Amino acid sequence: MTGLRSERWFGPSDISGLLHRSVLRTSGVAGESAGRPLVGICNCWSDLVNCNLHFRAIAESVRRGVLTAGGIPAEFPAISVGETLMKPTSMMYRNLMSMDVEESLRAYPFDAVVLIASCDKTIPAQLMGAASADLPAIMITGGPAEPGRYKGKRLSTATDLWRYADEFRAGRMSEDEMSELEASLQPSVGHCNEMGTASSLSAVVEALGMSLPGSSTVPATHGRRLALGELCGARAVELAREGTRISSILTRAAFENAITTLMALGGSTNGVVHLIALAGRLGIELTLDDFARISARTPVLANMKPTGEHLFQDLHDAGGVPALLAEIESLLDTSVLTVTGATLAEELAGAERIGDDPIRPLGNPLKPAAIGVVRGSLAPRGAIVKLSAASPELMRHRGPALVFEDISDLAARIDDPDLPATADTVLVLRNAGPIGGPGMPEWGALPIPAKLIREGVTDMVRVSDARMSGTAFGTAVLHVSPESAAGGPLAAVQNGDPIVLDCEAGLLELDIPEAELASRLETLPGRPARYERGYRALYEAHVLQADQGCDFDFLRPSPGAPAEDDLPTGILEGWIGGW
Ligand code: FES
Repeated sequence: MTGLRSERWFGPSDISGLLHRSVLRTSGVAGESAGRPLVGICNCWSDLVNCNLHFRAIAESVRRGVLTAGGIPAEFPAISVGETLMKPTSMMYRNLMSMDVEESLRAYPFDAVVLIASCDKTIPAQLMGAASADLPAIMITGGPAEPGRYKGKRLSTATDLWRYADEFRAGRMSEDEMSELEASLQPSVGHCNEMGTASSLSAVVEALGMSLPGSSTVPATHGRRLALGELCGARAVELAREGTRISSILTRAAFENAITTLMALGGSTNGVVHLIALAGRLGIELTLDDFARISARTPVLANMKPTGEHLFQDLHDAGGVPALLAEIESLLDTSVLTVTGATLAEELAGAERIGDDPIRPLGNPLKPAAIGVVRGSLAPRGAIVKLSAASPELMRHRGPALVFEDISDLAARIDDPDLPATADTVLVLRNAGPIGGPGMPEWGALPIPAKLIREGVTDMVRVSDARMSGTAFGTAVLHVSPESAAGGPLAAVQNGDPIVLDCEAGLLELDIPEAELASRLETLPGRPARYERGYRALYEAHVLQADQGCDFDFLRPSPGAPAEDDLPTGILEGWIGGW
């Protein structure tokens, strides 16, 4: 008896065991090998997701590692959730991917899984699925893409694009120049290379203890990433034999370490929704207050675009995530277990920051804080602001609202020369939340009106129930909860209403009389469901608000519910039975 989960499939001397072993034999696995750990390799490769295009090579390296360590590799696909081509937004499909991963892990005889993830949502989606299945798991991320070069300058994947787009809209760049930019922007496989969502989450996965130390910052194109794949495969075999479940690594302390790391990185605001959702799968209640508390004690040390200057691969040259974690060790709980079998403290022994940039010393941070939480009459359940990428002079601001009903309204009017906006105006976008978007697209960094760009305005206060790309910047109040499509106060804002933002005090107020706001909310028209069938109807009916991580309500365990059995029904015994 091996004690392996897969033994339930492959061990018995009956019709089921015979059939199950015969499947392995089709792949050339000898019958006597059936007692070895079956390690899944979850590969979300797709021609449609350029950030994941190198996953076949990574999967091969994982396969080598599994075989070397005495396991049986079994690669399987998961829906590839790509940031750029998937509409209305990949976020709408994060939960679908997590369900795909969870049900594959539950239904098949895996003893452990190696999760390969790169493009933004593929990271939280796979972890969420694995957490719900609660099998031994390890993640290898895809690594940052090589930077392109444009007019002699090194390009970040998206941050520089947003800046050049504003230049184009202001008439300061030609179409030919934009064509050259397009040809230069994404020269290699790998995820966005600034501190966008993918880089932030890759680093956070290390901090959670779910990937090999120092692995996240290795560039996508380096052979070292394939060597890491071998190591992950081999480690997954050990995890299977040890029976180390993901829930023993993803503890509350690990999540607090992850939030601390997100803050020290000046990381993506998307990290907030994804960490809340992931923790929720394990029955760990993370709230916006947790983020506010940890943000207040954690300065930004990583000098990375869009907050600073460098790219994710530069962090690698400075010692990688272990060096950053060593620098903030006093803010972490290093007694937590990691996927290597060692504690975080053991993993950080010897980790060292190389130079004072791009990882700043704790005593000389880049910025005082990364992500702030604001609440008030406009966002009763909270909203967030990426403080590290906002303009200090706008963090306390009062200005008149200019409301855009939805993204189409914004696209139609934002560059109208007669748009009634000044630098003091607060741009408001509604119907861009989890239900309204749908999928809470990354529309939260509303463009500065072209007429104001030409006047030299580079930032304005913007308020929405949308998310913002981790690669974007500006004084954008995001994730307003509840969203307008769910009857939140954002739906009641009218042009000219004063809006007050005070990041230090944590306030976001619609400065109109309380009774007036209540009366407007009472008379809001009802919102009929947009979808009648299929996944989109399921999504619309069950998605939670941003402050709860936008997971589906039915995917979170009920408080106090017993752990689910990790064996599916349908494994029969004896010599009677079908497939
Ligand atoms: Fe895939 Fe940015 S578009 S990581």
